[in-house]
Amino acid sequence: MTLNSTSSLTFSSPPILSARLAATPLLSAAQLVGTGHKTQILRCRSSHRILFMKEALVFQAIALVIAIVVGVSVEAPILPALPYIYVSPPVTMRYLITGATGGLGGHILEYFIAQIPFSDFAASSSSPENRSRFESRGVNFRHLDYENPTTLNRALHDVENLLFISTNANVIDVEKVKRQHRNVVEAARKANVKHVWYTSLPFGGLTNDSEVSVQRAHLATEKMLKESGLTFTCIREGIYVEGFPLFLNWYPETTLLTLPRDGEIAFTSRVELAVCTARLMIQGGFENRIVLLTAGETITAKELVSVINETTGRRVELRYVSPDEFVDAGPRNDRGGKSRAFFETLVSLWESAASGELRTMDGLMAEILGRVPIPPRDAVRQLLVENRDHTWHQITISVFLFG
Ligand SMILES: NC(=O)c1ccc[n+]([C@@H]2O[C@H](COP(=O)([O-])OP(=O)(O)OC[C@H]3O[C@@H](n4cnc5c(N)ncnc54)[C@H](OP(=O)(O)O)[C@@H]3O)[C@@H](O)[C@H]2O)c1
Repeated sequence: MTLNSTSSLTFSSPPILSARLAATPLLSAAQLVGTGHKTQILRCRSSHRILFMKEALVFQAIALVIAIVVGVSVEAPILPALPYIYVSPPVTMRYLITGATGGLGGHILEYFIAQIPFSDFAASSSSPENRSRFESRGVNFRHLDYENPTTLNRALHDVENLLFISTNANVIDVEKVKRQHRNVVEAARKANVKHVWYTSLPFGGLTNDSEVSVQRAHLATEKMLKESGLTFTCIREGIYVEGFPLFLNWYPETTLLTLPRDGEIAFTSRVELAVCTARLMIQGGFENRIVLLTAGETITAKELVSVINETTGRRVELRYVSPDEFVDAGPRNDRGGKSRAFFETLVSLWESAASGELRTMDGLMAEILGRVPIPPRDAVRQLLVENRDHTWHQITISVFLFG
């Protein structure tokens, strides 16, 4: 509860005084004495306010005794003028994890559940129906939708660290991504969020040169954050190794793969990316910086196919075709029924890889993990040993990519 005092101080109601007390002459006297005395307001953190009217503590004690013994109540407006020491309960949320229903955010949330007191973090989703999924595990929940500024304003109002997972909206629609992300940045600015941790993409490494459309939306968001005046860290998360079937457009039944280009990609474990992202947030720092998290090795499509064959005993063949042929034939032969736009995007991703945009590696991940991140070859092998038919929700990803 928030009370506005006669001296226009605003603070939360102390739970101990939540019983309403009837005004008495004694309390009126206390009010007079209290307002006539010096009031100190000490701010520890923005959430913790200590109100201290030191000379008139005695009246506070008397008022409380009366309240307890007689069971009468004081009207709320009187309370702020009463002399008392009051330390408000913490009203901030140290960490808010968006995208908590997703792959990256979900793993980050698990890390928080294992390492951080439950009172210090909350998970969010754009679907209010997901509330019980989190609350049943004791995890605080906040509904927010990047499309809806009202939900964002409500959910971010007392947040210190915001994990801002980039939207999985139709990535071809760069304007939609930018609109959603602008809503988040604007709400974070209004709410005075102390630190925004944004999950970006790694095309172009640490440069801002990539022309790949998905990266353009991320670069635009990074710029919004820089211009917002917020403290931010943009974490360019490596390309998920778990998604290698998507890059190859490989299904377990595929025997002939075609690709328009080839190139080195620093494929990185999404689980390890999540651990590193969580640790970065918890340790803090990296203010107003762009960082890159990647594995320490790269792999090409040709090498990926070799790993598939060696690990599963298959004999998948890889053939390179022209980009036009790839885009024309792709939708006709595709098991998942994916659109032409999907194959056009895949051409741009492989052209980007061929030009070296995805081979940049960075040592930060090894530093945070305290060991070498799993190399892409080993990660792919591991995925295929666990499940020789490993797939990467190609159908849903198609929807995610193209609406
Ligand atoms: N580095 C890479 O290789 C790579 C690959 C693919 C994607 N990405 C990007 O990285 C992000 C995280 O990856 P991921 O694997 O965790 O993706 P994911 O599993 O698809 O999860 C995306 C998350 O975004 C949330 N979201 C979507 N629309 C939202 C909205 N309007 N408001 C609030 N939250 C919304 C979803 O939560 P609710 O549906 O519960 O709201 C979901 O939890 C993706 O969204 C995408 O931008 C990176």
